[in-house]
Amino acid sequence: MNETLQQFINKNTPIIVEKLNAFMAEIEAPETLKSSMAYSINAGGKRIRPLLVLATLEDLGVKSNDALTVACAVEFIHTYSLIHDDLPCMDDDDFRRGKLTNHKVYGEAVAVLAGDALQTFAFDALTELTDTSAQNTIKIIQLLSKASGAGGMVGGQILDIEGEEKQLTLTELETVHLHKTGALLSFCIEAGAILACVNDEKAKQLSMYAKNIGLAFQIQDDILDITATTEELGKTAGSDEASDKTTYPSLLGLQGAQDRLNEHHRLAKQSLSFLGKEESLLALFADYIVQRRF
Ligand code: IPE
Ligand code: IPE
Ligand code: MG
Ligand code: MG
Ligand code: MG
Repeated sequence: MNETLQQFINKNTPIIVEKLNAFMAEIEAPETLKSSMAYSINAGGKRIRPLLVLATLEDLGVKSNDALTVACAVEFIHTYSLIHDDLPCMDDDDFRRGKLTNHKVYGEAVAVLAGDALQTFAFDALTELTDTSAQNTIKIIQLLSKASGAGGMVGGQILDIEGEEKQLTLTELETVHLHKTGALLSFCIEAGAILACVNDEKAKQLSMYAKNIGLAFQIQDDILDITATTEELGKTAGSDEASDKTTYPSLLGLQGAQDRLNEHHRLAKQSLSFLGKEESLLALFADYIVQRRF
């Protein structure tokens, strides 16, 4: 991995994990529920969404004490989405982040509830924004609810499940990916842009970048499901084929999927030209997303 990016990740990941746990320590809830929530939050994971929030602000040259709070909020939502995604009624997976899935340890009822609680907790966290205006706080809460809800991630998950019974067209599959994965990744960049109070033109370029890395991220996830091992991934390889999912490789073949991935990578980086930097963190993240092996 690029050294600048590696340093950024090494520096910020422990800070994110510490803040996630500081938030979790505030929760007053029955022990089983807290334990199940903490299990998935602390199971590892790349923390790419929180890192993207921080990277956006750093590339824009803006410091905000609220960035870390927004970063944690999106990781709470993402972790909830993974717990539910792995349930037997969804993708029925036994491993996640190198460990047994939440329902395998705590049972389905607790796993559903831990996901529910993480979801609402994300919005609770956002009420603690202090540096930004009340208006921006409302914008960010609205953005996260739309990105994670029926018109965003949850809507994409439904389309993904429906895609198990029929083969989707490429356009339909792109819609699935933009919603189930792209929406939350876009939130990270767009919320960073709100905290940094960028103008409309820059916000538009950042949204284009986000849309393209969102698609690239899920295409690479589909590719890795076929080309990587369970050990590398920390989640069961071959899960998509086992559940008959329509994916980029299933529709276009591996090379076709790779070509699409490269095109979204190119478009993402093109959108960053306004930053006027040789090597921005967001550009390095785009490289990382297409090169990652897990
Ligand atoms: C997995 O996301 C789910 C998808 C949207 C493809 P990540 O690959 O970011 O999972 P973690 O957080 O690193 O475990
Ligand atoms: C998951 O997509 C997207 C979510 C909203 C969680 P996948 O089902 O492909 O994610 P993995 O491969 O299980 O991580
Ligand atoms: Mg899924
Ligand atoms: Mg899955
Ligand atoms: Mg997958």
